[in-house]
Amino acid sequence: MIAKKVLLNELGKEQKKKGFVSKKKLKEIAKNVCLPESEVFSAATFYSFLSLEKRAKHIIQVCNCPSSHLHGSDRIMKYLEKKLKVKAGHATKNKLFFLSETSCVGLCDKAPAIIIDGKPYVKVNEKKIDKILRKLK
Ligand code: FES
Repeated sequence: MIAKKVLLNELGKEQKKKGFVSKKKLKEIAKNVCLPESEVFSAATFYSFLSLEKRAKHIIQVCNCPSSHLHGSDRIMKYLEKKLKVKAGHATKNKLFFLSETSCVGLCDKAPAIIIDGKPYVKVNEKKIDKILRKLK
């Protein structure tokens, strides 16, 4: 259990630092946390906040689980798709933003929630999104 926490911490640090986790880094992390490379690879491909390749400068994840859904996450996703001119699961042409859905991020009481570059934003609406995007551009 502790090794897995250390593993996720190491993967998260690399994701934040480089914007992705390279295969070389996966091997290095596996060695450091004494876990098989297959287990490290599984973790790196399971969690939506991790990527094995550089997607874009900023990663935007919209929670699509029940609480966020009930509080308008579909509307938020459509707004982001229109605003960024990109569909979920893709990066903008200039590689500034990558937009995707994610499962519950544990902020159900403050839904709808989105995560941008690992930072949570809660009770988001169109006005809040405009303000956030202006700061990121
Ligand atoms: S359902 Fe969106 S944060 Fe839990």
